[in-house]
Amino acid sequence: MMPNRLPIIIAAFLALAATTAAAQAGFGEHLAACAACHGEHGEGVRGSEYYPHLAGKPAGYLFEQLKGFRDGRRTNTQMTWLVQFADDRFLHEIADHYAALAPRTRAADTGAAALTSARRKVAETLVEHGDPGRGVPACSECHGTNLAGLEPGVPALVGLPADYVIAQFGSWREGIRHGAPPDCMHDVAERIAPEDIRAIATWLSQQSNPDGARPAPAGSFVPPKACGSLPHAENAP
Ligand code: HEC
Ligand code: HEC
Repeated sequence: MMPNRLPIIIAAFLALAATTAAAQAGFGEHLAACAACHGEHGEGVRGSEYYPHLAGKPAGYLFEQLKGFRDGRRTNTQMTWLVQFADDRFLHEIADHYAALAPRTRAADTGAAALTSARRKVAETLVEHGDPGRGVPACSECHGTNLAGLEPGVPALVGLPADYVIAQFGSWREGIRHGAPPDCMHDVAERIAPEDIRAIATWLSQQSNPDGARPAPAGSFVPPKACGSLPHAENAP
């Protein structure tokens, strides 16, 4: 669970947020409050089945998530409490910091239960081909064939903890997590059966990014559905 030092480092973080962060030298060193749950280099915390990694995700994506916690488009007590008084400039700085770090994940160590070969096939089919019958594009059509993401708004999926992915799909379905409209992930999440989400989440948690692949450059491919977090969304069908 939470380290005992957490309240102290969080207090230190809030104090920092109140000053002008830009003026601080070694900004990254001050993000100890975040390291307790997201890892010293944003890689996630070993043994945690839930906290997502942050390193190497697109800055635009991370900024939108931080703003989402602050403004109520995403709900999580711990995160909301941390960013509730932060201004956009400070959130941009945090987002830029983590985006610049080398993508790291805890790979297959999230302790996810093994998949049967039938469930693995279901997961791989949805990730690589989607489900045209239900209007679900392949995850890879938006998150990249290597699932390393797409600048500026689509995050990598490799190595996310299974429980975290399952919870995010639940949040989109229940209207607790909202992306910029049109909210393409809400649309995707609604069309996939819960047991298939579980298979995908387990499969994703077992993938790693050994070569440190970064998100593809903006515009290098066009997602099959419009997403509000991508600037060319209006051009997509
Ligand atoms: C007490 C644990 C805890 C601390 C400390 C913490 N986080 Fe989080 N963070 C979480 C949890 C849990 C989530 C996932 C919330 C959810 O389910 O939506 C999260 C999610 C996030 C996300 C969204 C990730 C994504 O891929 O969508 C970002 C960005 C983030 N945190 C940044 C930070 C930053 C920056 C700090 C330090 C200021 C911080 N967190 C401190 C627990 C924590
Ligand atoms: C039409 C494009 C599109 C498709 C198809 C798509 N995604 Fe996404 N995905 C996005 C975008 C855009 C975001 C960022 C959402 C936001 O800003 O809230 C996202 C975010 C996510 C996240 C959040 C990651 C995090 O760190 O919190 C997960 C998990 C996810 N997608 C899983 C999937 C899976 C699994 C599939 C396939 C079943 C899929 N996505 C298909 C565009 C897509």
